Amino acid sequence: MLTDTTLTTTDSVDPAGDNPQADPRPHLAGNSANRPANGPANGPTVARTEAATKVYGAGETKVTALDAVSVAIPAGEFTAIMGPSGSGKSTLMHCLAGLDTLTSGRVFLDDVELSSLSDRKLTKLRRDRIGFVFQAFNLLPTLTALENITLPMDLAGRKPDQAWLDQVVRVVGLGTRLGHRPSELSGGQQQRVAVARALASKPAVIFADEPTGNLDRNSGIEVLKFLRSAVDDLGQSIVMVTHDPYAASYADATLTLSDGRIISHERAVA
Ligand SMILES: Nc1ncnc2c1ncn2[C@@H]1O[C@H](COP(=O)(O)OP(=O)(O)O)[C@@H](O)[C@H]1O
Ligand SMILES: [Mg+2]
Repeated sequence: MLTDTTLTTTDSVDPAGDNPQADPRPHLAGNSANRPANGPANGPTVARTEAATKVYGAGETKVTALDAVSVAIPAGEFTAIMGPSGSGKSTLMHCLAGLDTLTSGRVFLDDVELSSLSDRKLTKLRRDRIGFVFQAFNLLPTLTALENITLPMDLAGRKPDQAWLDQVVRVVGLGTRLGHRPSELSGGQQQRVAVARALASKPAVIFADEPTGNLDRNSGIEVLKFLRSAVDDLGQSIVMVTHDPYAASYADATLTLSDGRIISHERAVA
């Protein structure tokens, strides 16, 4: 992986990369003013669970990964899911995203109950309505950054909304590096490409599992700023699993899990 120290000066539009030391977190200034300091927002939700329970195994090896979790994820916000290792963060995210099924309880995405869908419809909903970002960037090494961003839509035979794609490409701030392959990009830039890829199909919600887990601090900040601007500038809804309180500080609200239960749901306050 190349570490190119000239990146921030050569990228003409680079909201995610400028001065990574600064921590403006603009959402704390105005965005949260008319909301309660604690608890979920009262506005529309993009996803929710009702008494979501997930049990793995049986008998002595039985693990209750989720224990009757009821939670609403607000639309147009950045929600962080925190908690110690093994507390159920990934399980909750996978169940919200239709990648895993519940033992009991219900999950709704866009007000559609996921367990009511056939496999085919669930696959289509995941493809059309959900974006994913993982700790490993999962970019294809032989494709350019821009080709990686449009690949899922190309594979699905969907024409991207060009105005939206132009906006995503502007906000990702890679400038001329859009024509570069992943090996020619820094870790932070590669993860920004992965976020832009998730944004390209204009999903209802993006789920990111430890998206900064493989990055050094400054690259992590670069990605967090991009996630933040996807919410503030593009209206995207984002759910991010992290065990890093600093990463969670970029979110509008933080859900904390412990032993498969939500122990707090706090809104960021200025
Ligand atoms: N496929 C699985 N089979 C058995 N146990 C699992 C499986 N996936 C997760 N678990 C268990 O469920 C609990 C929650 O796991 P997970 O959601 O991965 O936690 P986190 O992401 O917070 O680290 C843990 O005790 C874990 O060992
Ligand atoms: Mg996990």
